[in-house]
Amino acid sequence: MTASPLPPDWSDRSAFDLAHAWHPFTQMQEAMATPPAPVIGAEGSDLLLADGSRILDGISSWWTCLHGHGHPKLVTAAERQMSSLDHVMFAGFTHEPALELIARLKPRLPANLTRCFFSDNGSTAVEVALKMAFQCQLQRGQKGRLRFGALRGGYHGDTLGAVGVGELDNWFTGLFRPLLLACDRLEVPEDPRRELNADLSQWPAQLDAARAEVRRFFQRHGEHLAAFIAEPLIQCAGGMRMWPPELLQEIRTQCDAHGVLLILDEVATGFGRTGTFLALEHAGIQPDLLCLSKGLTGGTLPLSLTWTTEAIYECFLGDWASGRAFLHGHSYTANPTACAVANASLALFDEEPVIARSQALSATLSTVFGRLASHPAVRRARVLGAIGACQFVDPATGEPHPVEARVGWRLHRQALTHGLLLRPMGDCLYLLPPLSTPPARIEAAGEVIMELLEGL
Ligand SMILES: Cc1ncc(COP(=O)(O)O)c(C=O)c1O
Repeated sequence: MTASPLPPDWSDRSAFDLAHAWHPFTQMQEAMATPPAPVIGAEGSDLLLADGSRILDGISSWWTCLHGHGHPKLVTAAERQMSSLDHVMFAGFTHEPALELIARLKPRLPANLTRCFFSDNGSTAVEVALKMAFQCQLQRGQKGRLRFGALRGGYHGDTLGAVGVGELDNWFTGLFRPLLLACDRLEVPEDPRRELNADLSQWPAQLDAARAEVRRFFQRHGEHLAAFIAEPLIQCAGGMRMWPPELLQEIRTQCDAHGVLLILDEVATGFGRTGTFLALEHAGIQPDLLCLSKGLTGGTLPLSLTWTTEAIYECFLGDWASGRAFLHGHSYTANPTACAVANASLALFDEEPVIARSQALSATLSTVFGRLASHPAVRRARVLGAIGACQFVDPATGEPHPVEARVGWRLHRQALTHGLLLRPMGDCLYLLPPLSTPPARIEAAGEVIMELLEGL
């Protein structure tokens, strides 16, 4: 092996990073003062830093890691596959890891989803679903369906199509508005049953009102929508907003009534995060298109899938000149190594009690967030599966901190010095650890959070 072109020690490497690398979701001017932490390894639920410290990966490295870092079965699967077939284009060729992945996953999905399209990340899984839905409607003669429906405050990725159906803070979506898809948005309330200590007395009436709002939305917009997209049960990047399965059922009913295709984006919620294999199981419904990524490879390699139905697939059949084919693809579509690791990860769902671990973590998170709920700086502590979240406020006023105070960012930095990776989103502080994390580690993380809240 040739010598590394990098300077030998990490202080110089950090300077090199700041001189040349451009990090995601980062104000690089701020990074000058607080350079990215060098990670030299990862083991189980921990990241190993260059200074010799270990930090608990409390957010599963952007919600990807399922079985812990460096699971030997995933590592072996990658090594084996790389040494036999590293990569081949998926147009005109096929291979065993991709077919095995379809065969392993299909029995775990709603029975109507029989067709699988491969791409590389959550955003492209969403782009594929949007394009497929739009083209399908056109090819069915539905030429007036030029818009999409989506939930208020949703997030579906960073490519322009995905940004168009998402709606985060104005600086995120608003900036690109002139370039985005036409989208109508439906607001759904949060589900108070997920909150620890919520008052549920008004809930039945609120739920009825929310159902009526769903119906009104589809009466108003339904005939112009190609598809409606939602993150089932929890809007993650939108601030861990947990919303009711009954409204997802109503959206399904209304999509059917108005000829709108339903896309469920399970990029973040899939693979056990919500205590079931898929979040849609809480609502018992079947989507027309389903997007999967993140946990698909156990959180190791980029890969994503867009599943759809036979009826949609058939809209694309015809001779070449008909122009009905789905002309979309990526260089690394169905990368064999990523597929092999995804297969090893799915095998672990049979070999290890992955879902039971998620449910046990849920119980621990309920205890931890139940304790946090008593802190004067905490509001609306809530849990869904292995995701715990709360809002933090100024304990003196009970109001949110001003954005300029960068309290979430400060919590993130302080937590690192206590061996914990947190990454609050606005006023939302959450834990979303690898499903294999021992409950005692979550208890300890709760103690750290309590201590940090004292310092707010
Ligand atoms: C629900 C959802 N959809 C799509 C994406 C985009 O995935 P990626 O970052 O892999 O493009 C994310 C990422 O957080 C997500 O949470």
